Amino acid sequence: MFYGGDYNPEQWPEEIWKQDVALMAEAGVNLVTVGVFSWAKLEPQPGHYEFGWMDAVLDLLFDNGVFIDLATATASPPPWLAKLHPESLPVTEDGVTLWPGGRQQYCPSSPAYRNAAQLLVERIADRYGAHPGLVMWHVNNEFGCHVPACYCDTSAGAFKGWLESRYGSIDVLNEAWGTAFWSQAYGDWDEINPPRRAPTFTNPSQELDFKRFSSDALLECYSMERAIVKGATPQIPVTTNFMGFFKPVDYWKWAQHEDVVSDDSYQDPSAPESPMLSAMRWDLMRSLGSGEPWILMEQASNHVNWRRRNIGKRPGQMRAWSYQAVARGANGIMFFQWRASRGGAEKYHSAMVPHVQPESSRVWQEVKQLGNELKQLDEVLETRGQASVAVVFEWDNWWALEAPSKPAWDLRMMDQVFSYYEPLFAANVPVDFVTPTSDLSSYDVVLVPNLYLTRAGVAENFDNFVHAGGALVVSFFSGIVDERDNVYLGGYPAPLRRLLGITFEEFSAMPPDKRYRIALSDSGSCSSDQWSDPIRLEGAEAIATYEEDWLAGRPAVTMNRWGGGRSFYVGTRLDREGMSWLLEEVVGVPRPNWGFEVPSGVEIIRRSGGERVFTFLINHSDREIEVDIGPGRRNPLTESDHPPRLNLEPFEVAVLAT
Ligand code: GAL
Repeated sequence: MFYGGDYNPEQWPEEIWKQDVALMAEAGVNLVTVGVFSWAKLEPQPGHYEFGWMDAVLDLLFDNGVFIDLATATASPPPWLAKLHPESLPVTEDGVTLWPGGRQQYCPSSPAYRNAAQLLVERIADRYGAHPGLVMWHVNNEFGCHVPACYCDTSAGAFKGWLESRYGSIDVLNEAWGTAFWSQAYGDWDEINPPRRAPTFTNPSQELDFKRFSSDALLECYSMERAIVKGATPQIPVTTNFMGFFKPVDYWKWAQHEDVVSDDSYQDPSAPESPMLSAMRWDLMRSLGSGEPWILMEQASNHVNWRRRNIGKRPGQMRAWSYQAVARGANGIMFFQWRASRGGAEKYHSAMVPHVQPESSRVWQEVKQLGNELKQLDEVLETRGQASVAVVFEWDNWWALEAPSKPAWDLRMMDQVFSYYEPLFAANVPVDFVTPTSDLSSYDVVLVPNLYLTRAGVAENFDNFVHAGGALVVSFFSGIVDERDNVYLGGYPAPLRRLLGITFEEFSAMPPDKRYRIALSDSGSCSSDQWSDPIRLEGAEAIATYEEDWLAGRPAVTMNRWGGGRSFYVGTRLDREGMSWLLEEVVGVPRPNWGFEVPSGVEIIRRSGGERVFTFLINHSDREIEVDIGPGRRNPLTESDHPPRLNLEPFEVAVLAT
């Protein structure tokens, strides 16, 4: 199990480095990420490299038993690059240049930036590829976090090139973008720009393509660096740190180029929904790597510095959340950063080693305890999670759904995903994320929150899944447009119409404060809001109906028997009770058999492999909770048996091994 954090020794004199490695040994640190923001120190003048200090740092770490996740140092170019190449600076959609003084001030398509990055990475790979401490490459850092897209002239040129290779001819582009509308037809590639600030709504198909292009432009930067380090060291795994559900970057596409997926996660310690949000993003991380272990590359030991109020983690909370990551597939727990900075913009961000004497610090004690505990969990490394429920999630759809000028501006992708994920999380049902064209054959239930953009091949994939006995749940405003964001004509939801056995002729967004009462087939009721498709049955049956207004008596939720399975359509946004009714009572999502009752407030997750089964229980509540686990369950952290009845304190974790 990897344990450690971002190590930035360039911020400190050499005497401190020696204290660092001694403290790392105390805390069980075995991996650090070095060099993320070291470019200016490694190349203080263009073409003039200073590697001596880095040589000393890497040797010192390795000699003291700490392995190295070596960063390529390209995340923050030194100020000299902007001076030499002002055109390498990024520009916003309003035409504002982003200057040095923060970080990440580069245009992803800039040849000057890419060349400088390439030269640096070649030297780093050449110098350190054979270092015995090197176990992982860390390309750049959080691609796109501050500059997800650039609208400068260089980017405009690159966008045109990208469009040319996608569409081949300007006529095809005009057709795809629907430029007959508002006199937008292009006569030549050179007339096209990124969707810069315009008098009113920009063309949504152009916006969608620009999102795809921007994700690809960053991916080109990543791939260029990856090719260099892979060329030098084919055997060393390469990662770049993801940011959960980060809208600007299509992680499905990126993950294919990663040897190991890693995530940076900074949930708000004071928000009650944080454990659910973490669970969800970590299920995504596991799914991006096809179920293989991933690494929690960054988390905070205590508070961050970038919220309006930076609430700290309560005693035990960091440990509980770290175990949550392990339980959901992480084989490494890392922090930003090792030692809290004295100066700079992040000096009030917590770290593993605080500003004060470590021994006097609660946070340091917790950091130390966790690192030493994780050493006991090596057996967990080979185990994996298992899920029989999948949630469909795709970036193209997210981008298209949230482009402006829709029936409801507040129809947000993540809200819709939460509405499915939350009841499953509360019921401790394991979930994977999949794309709409993933192989679905290993799942019993597939949930499809608002697949507005339904591309070619998706309907067939869903059809096969349901035919073979699966249960598919599709929510409203799905199956509306193709991958160009052009509406499917002839009756919504065109490509999914036969499979779902329904149609509707109009959309009906609801006033913001309006709720409908819904009668459920088992004589219960719930409410719904936001949307209400006036569904017509074409083979499906109604399993919930509106009770009010002109829709009274019309179907709100339908079920269609199709082949050996069932497909459901949810034409409105059901409240929490409605979702639980649908998922648990009607669809019947399979709940794992834990072998004992799990009280509410306790999260339970399992990793297994071969003979080994590890069950993690986490009390996320602020009260003590008793769990009757029965006799004979081993605690791998103490190598003794747990008592048959556990008293889980707030944020307490129990690991059961069989
Ligand atoms: C991450 C970043 C780190 C640090 C951290 C602070 O986004 O990768 O370098 O800035 O946030 O929370």
